[in-house]
Amino acid sequence: MDPEDFSTLTRDYLNQCNIAVRNHNGFAASYIGDAFQALFGYPIAEEDDAERALQLAFELLRLVPEIEVPDAPPLRVRIGIASGVVVVGDYLAAPAGVSTVAMGSIPNLAQRLQSIAEPQTILTDQRTYDSTAGAFEFTDLGPQTLKGFSNLVHVWRAEKPHILENRFAKRTQLTELVDRRTELTQILKLWREVVTENHGQAALICGEPGIGKSRLIFEAHQRMPRCTYLTLQCSTAYSNSALFPFLTLLKRYAGMHAEDLADISLERLEALLSFSNIPVSQSLPIFAKLLSISQTRYPSPNMTSAQQRMISVRVIVDWLHHVSRINRVLLSIEDEQWIDPSSSDVLEALIGEVGSFPMLILITTREKRLRKPLKRSELRKITLERLSDDDAQLLVGNAVSGKTLPQGMRSSVLAKAEGVPLYVEELARAAFETSTSHSRS
Ligand SMILES: Nc1ncnc2c1ncn2[C@@H]1O[C@H](COP(=O)(O)OP(=O)(O)OP(=O)(O)O)[C@@H](O)[C@H]1O
Ligand SMILES: [Mg+2]
Repeated sequence: MDPEDFSTLTRDYLNQCNIAVRNHNGFAASYIGDAFQALFGYPIAEEDDAERALQLAFELLRLVPEIEVPDAPPLRVRIGIASGVVVVGDYLAAPAGVSTVAMGSIPNLAQRLQSIAEPQTILTDQRTYDSTAGAFEFTDLGPQTLKGFSNLVHVWRAEKPHILENRFAKRTQLTELVDRRTELTQILKLWREVVTENHGQAALICGEPGIGKSRLIFEAHQRMPRCTYLTLQCSTAYSNSALFPFLTLLKRYAGMHAEDLADISLERLEALLSFSNIPVSQSLPIFAKLLSISQTRYPSPNMTSAQQRMISVRVIVDWLHHVSRINRVLLSIEDEQWIDPSSSDVLEALIGEVGSFPMLILITTREKRLRKPLKRSELRKITLERLSDDDAQLLVGNAVSGKTLPQGMRSSVLAKAEGVPLYVEELARAAFETSTSHSRS
């Protein structure tokens, strides 16, 4: 290829990748030639960093071959992902194009994995597999010898995303719960009202990233036998995509898959929409468009977009009411700080009418209030604070499965984590790995 074309192509490719990285809340750290490094959890570590890295990886597998290449076969990518604590800094003697870089064994491992990956595949280390195994399907490639690593490295190939009911289902290990008795009691009291009086309730769980909002819902759900559990995940990448979390739930509930024939998807959709008083002839064309299903059964509605939006909100609320009449529902809406405006309307209507249905709505947010404040609200507020020193100590012990950490390391973990459970867990595990590798050597 002509060098000028090649340079335009590389620029186009890196631009598109950069946008995708940002959409998944990652940080594009450095570029060398056509390779780049993306960091998740920098500058702020979050509970789902590894999961977002994998979501990005799948997005790149889809996006890169679509980049236009004049007179040549489509581009293909290889991706390597490794997880752990890294040192990130500005690289003073940096070659052109390189600024902030992650250094140490984890980025090296990711790069090694990338170099042995087949085109259009994603390889990960054990740690990434452990924290995302329920969210994605993997093939075990077993322990491998990698250049620059003295020990064998267990390698996994990520195959495709699972459709998830609960974010904690993705964990292969869960640290034993500390504290949060008061908050759990509050939620279970609301649930009792739902069960005994058929009177729905809604609560907003607020707190900074990693403080334990999702974990609290997981624990509450474990203590609510025989409920229908529906969970919605808002996402930074889709905060402007109309009804994104509710449409994802609808598809999951109806068993609709991207590879289904349009006719099958339409039948499933029709069945779902029939639970509303809005005629299917009106709602189906609206939802078919929202879900990108082509259909000719019903003509496109002759309505303004505001009318269409009102209909879609009403139909979703009616459908959820129908589900709660079959069996009482726990509905969790995670990371509401990223909700799109139409989904906010659904939420507002659901909360406004919640008293009449056997449903407990739990919403998590990193902010102090909902994105669209409610005029008159039945919403309880539960704010999660940082852990006390004693509880953080307990969590350190739980995170390293009761094994002991040298006193100096323990104090440093506690000081750095400042009572945020995510950091306590992560730093304790990292410190434990460092202390065992030192004692081995
Ligand atoms: N009380 C607790 N005891 C033990 N582990 C906890 C506790 N609270 C949280 N954790 C652990 O800390 C990590 C982060 O918790 P979680 O994902 O619930 O945070 P979050 O507030 O939902 O964060 P985000 O805003 O990023 O969604 C998880 O691994 C979770 O299991
Ligand atoms: Mg969460």
